Amino acid sequence: MRIGILTGGGDCPGLNAVIRAVVRRSTDRGHEMVAVRDGWKGLTEGIFAPLGRREVSGILPRGGTILGTTRTNPYKVEDGVESVLRHFSDEGLEALVAIGGEDTLGVAARLHHEHALPVVGVPKTIDNDLSGTDYTFGFDTAVSIATEAIDRLHTTAESHNRVMVVEVMGRHTGWIAVMSGIAGGADVIMIPEQPITVEDACRELAKRHDGGKDFSIIVVSEGYELTYESGEHRLVADEARATDQFDHVVLGGVGDALAREIEERTGFETRVTVLGHVQRGGTPTPRDRVLATRFGLKAADLAHERRFGRMAALRGDTIVDVSLAEATRELKTVPAEWYDVARAFFG
Ligand code: F6P
Repeated sequence: MRIGILTGGGDCPGLNAVIRAVVRRSTDRGHEMVAVRDGWKGLTEGIFAPLGRREVSGILPRGGTILGTTRTNPYKVEDGVESVLRHFSDEGLEALVAIGGEDTLGVAARLHHEHALPVVGVPKTIDNDLSGTDYTFGFDTAVSIATEAIDRLHTTAESHNRVMVVEVMGRHTGWIAVMSGIAGGADVIMIPEQPITVEDACRELAKRHDGGKDFSIIVVSEGYELTYESGEHRLVADEARATDQFDHVVLGGVGDALAREIEERTGFETRVTVLGHVQRGGTPTPRDRVLATRFGLKAADLAHERRFGRMAALRGDTIVDVSLAEATRELKTVPAEWYDVARAFFG
């Protein structure tokens, strides 16, 4: 078989580990691998390269993706879907491994359903918001980086008696905020799914000060809408910049807005740190390397067995496969039970 492989959406630690595993297992079986460059752009425009054991040598610990990535959506490009199907067949491909999050895999699920594209999926995102799998690879690395940042920010918070606001990623969900906040001992955590108000957050800080703690750490998810007791709420986004081809606005800035509100309302000196793409960069944790490797082997097996329309997934500690359509139907949000764990340490 000639098997194509692509990575789409934001880069994510562990992508190279998946690519290595798919290539190693597939070429061991005598299949030929083809690199599809830059996500769906590669199939839309026909950008391919050879991919063998030599190309994947030494990439296991490397962040990013050797295949390149974009947020191209063939459904938003003129004749995009026809081009994908034409290039797929002209290149002699018989299977495709798509590694991505809700957007990339959403396109894969649709192409499979509408055009019988022989595709299997691998769930990638630092946000951990894909359904059908307990965890996505990349998440553990992002949480480790955010936790280390919170630990370090404690130093300044404590020395200067300051409130430190840490803005972490998570476009629609607060997984990174909740997990790094619990691990780092945050005093308040603000996420889109359980939007506590700005007034509540200020009350928690005042309570800490009354109890003799003159510093605090607040972790806020970039997708948290500033929410007030009046019922007003406001998403902070970069309005100057266009949305991408999946209609997502560019987020960022909520930490700054929140810090200003806190300082004004409480009088406590407040500073903000935006972790941004630092959370996606660099080498994956051992846990992510192992998960990505297991996902890659599973995806290679699914392609070999021609079980298309399926996605590798983690259930408990077992790698299984689930329907791509189901996995991309709705996002996996942070359940109330998890937020309760975090909330037990507020204030
Ligand atoms: O989906 C991963 C993610 O890092 C989100 O947490 C974030 O909102 C988005 O990507 C940022 O995308 P970009 O790197 O394209 O600005």
